[in-house]
Formats: sequence, C-alpha cells, structure tokens
Amino acid sequence: MTDKAVEKDPVVWPAAPHTLAKHSVYRQYLSKWMPIMIHSWKGDVTYAEGFAGPGIYTGGEPGSPVIALETLIHDPFLRLKARDLRFLFVEQDERRVAHLREQLAIAARPVALEDLDRYGIDLAVEAGDYDPTLIEVLSKHDAWGRPMLVVLDTFGGGVKLDIVRRIANNPSSEVIITFEPHHFARFPTSHHGDAVFGDPEWRRVADLPSEAKAEWVVNKYRDVLHEAGFPFVLTFELVGGNGHSLFLAFGTTHVRGLQKMKEAMWEVDPIQGVRYRDPADPDQQLLDIQIEPHTEPLRRELLQYLRDAPGHTASVGDLRRFALYQTVYKESQVMPVLDKLVEKGSAVGDGGDGHVRLGGNVRLTAAALNNGG
Ligand SMILES: C[S@@+](CC[C@H](N)C(=O)[O-])C[C@H]1O[C@@H](n2cnc3c(N)ncnc32)[C@H](O)[C@@H]1O
Repeated sequence: MTDKAVEKDPVVWPAAPHTLAKHSVYRQYLSKWMPIMIHSWKGDVTYAEGFAGPGIYTGGEPGSPVIALETLIHDPFLRLKARDLRFLFVEQDERRVAHLREQLAIAARPVALEDLDRYGIDLAVEAGDYDPTLIEVLSKHDAWGRPMLVVLDTFGGGVKLDIVRRIANNPSSEVIITFEPHHFARFPTSHHGDAVFGDPEWRRVADLPSEAKAEWVVNKYRDVLHEAGFPFVLTFELVGGNGHSLFLAFGTTHVRGLQKMKEAMWEVDPIQGVRYRDPADPDQQLLDIQIEPHTEPLRRELLQYLRDAPGHTASVGDLRRFALYQTVYKESQVMPVLDKLVEKGSAVGDGGDGHVRLGGNVRLTAAALNNGG
C-alpha cells in the first residue's frame, strides 16, 4: 500500500464518542452473557466477530475483540470454568489482522496466544471477507449446535441476511449488528441492500418523505431479523454530540438475552455527549445514558399503546411485555410510569384485576398524547 492509501485508510483510527459508548454496552453485556453461558453450558460457547477491526484505537482504547477476551481473562473464576470456549475473529484487512493478533496477545499475557488452548480457550483470527470466512471458521471450530454470540460490526453497510439466518437457526444464538439506516435511504436501489434485507421490498424507502426514511428502515430491519429467526429484537440508536449516530440491532433467541441487554444498556457509564434514542418513540427524544433513565418517551409509548388497544384497555402484563419487546425500556420501568399516569388521571386502574384503561382526561389525538397526556 502507498503512503497516500494508508493515510486514507489507516490501520488504526480514533474512537468516536459513540464507538466508546458502543464498547461500554458490549462490555456490560459481555459481563452478563459470559458467566450465564459458561455456567449453563460448561463453557462450551462461542464469541465471534465478522468485522473484528485492529483491536485498538489511536487513543489506546481497546477494540471489541480485546474487550471480549478481557471479560474472561480478568475474571479468575470464569477463567477456571472455560472449556472449549471459542473466540473467533474475522477481519478482511491483513494489516488489521496483524494488529489484532498483537493486541489479543497483550490481553492474554502472561499466557501466549498459542497456549490458550491449554486453558480451554480456542482463539482464532482469520483474514478474509466475512462472507464466506465467518461461516467457514464457525464450522472449522465446531461452533454449530452450541450457543454463540456473533458481533457483526460493519462501518454501516449491514450484512447479508443469509448469514444472519444461519446464526438465528443455531440454538441459543445472538447477534449484535451495527448499521446505518441513512446508508440505505441514500442508495435505495443497491443489490447489496437486497442481500441485507433478503429481497427488494426495502427499496420502497425511496418513495417516502426524507424525514420518514430512517425510521422506516429501522422498523423494516427489525421485521427482517424477526423473520430470520430471532424472536426477540432490540434496536436503539447511539447519538454523538456531533450528530453522528450509530444503530445497534440486537437479536436473540431467548427472552433472557433481551432482558440482560436492556440492563446492560442502562448500566453503562455516561460518555460525554452521547445519548440514546428509542426508535419507537414518536417524538424521537434524545435520552441521557444514566441508570435511572428519563421515562417521558415510555409514558408517551404506553399511552399510545392504550389508545390503540381494544376498548383502550390493556393488562399490566401486556404493557410490561410491550415495553420489553418494542421499546428501549425495561419491564421494571413500566409500573412507576403507570402509577404516575393513574395519579394524573391519564389512566385508570380497572378494579384490581391488573388492567389499565385510558383515563378520561386524555383526548384521543396524537397531539394530546405528545403534549402531556
Ligand atoms: C467498524 S470496524 C470494526 C470495529 C471493531 N468491531 C471494534 O469495535 O473494535 C469494521 C472492520 O471491518 C473490516 N471489514 C470491512 N469489510 C469487511 C468484510 N467484507 N469482511 C471482513 N471485514 C471487513 C474493516 O477492515 C474494519 O476493520
């Protein structure tokens, strides 16, 4: 590569604030996923990445593969329980592959990478296009038929649905996919888009007004992940102070994974200027990353749910499930919001049978719902 080419596409680049926030979510989630999986499956699980990166950023911050390995290495109790635990990384750029190997070797010290197998860890870094290398590596290392968490962290272009389907059809599987909805809104006729969404139906995005495109693409992708075989899907947006944002789509075959990812999301340390946005919030309000999240969007979403429900009534269980499956909020955040709605007369408890209906002081218009309910 010439110096100019390297300058344009450096091996290592600075971590944007939303990248650091994303890593914080990964770290938090892995600290939950790893012990649960190691205890339930006696360590016989796989963590894989299809777009692994160089393992470090210019400021010295670790990349996601290093974060994953450190989650295990830094926990002596978990380390002892590892049996056939696979860490499989695919990266197309050979320069980044070399860097990643170095960074993983530093993280594994004092054990040499090639000796990790003595400690029950099967670690591999393969150079190649994620398609077909990722599926090949998963096969070569006997990962199928056992739980896997696969991170597909593209620069925004998304991944081919065939590969996501293969992972979804494996028992106890999860994916984290980063993607950029504006990418698809900008190029609504690409064949790559057909491979990401599974068919050309997504091209309808071209007919929508520009302000509706991103939300439509996110909702479409949620449906695609469901159809691919993930019963539980969470999408949320990390928005940096400079307006740059990153969508994370999380798909899991188990409701517990969804609950743990929600916990992880709300436990991360705040990162200067980075906020969440719930794609399901009609107002698209930005939310600070904090343990006690601002629940105004949840209030709006619950009122909207009651408005759409038959008889404007729903059980508390339905509302809790709605929050878990359709919003960025946790089930446990529903009751305090409902209590406040009842207190204000915006909702009414139905005689102790666990049902709630829309209150008399809510006019059934979207404007009223958005303005204080
Ligand atoms: C967003 S970065 C990954 C960052 C990394 N997951 C982290 O958080 O530290 C995307 C990486 O994917 C690699 N890449 C791009 N196209 C690829 C492909 N078709 N197959 C495999 N890797 C690819 C790039 O070289 C880049 O290192």
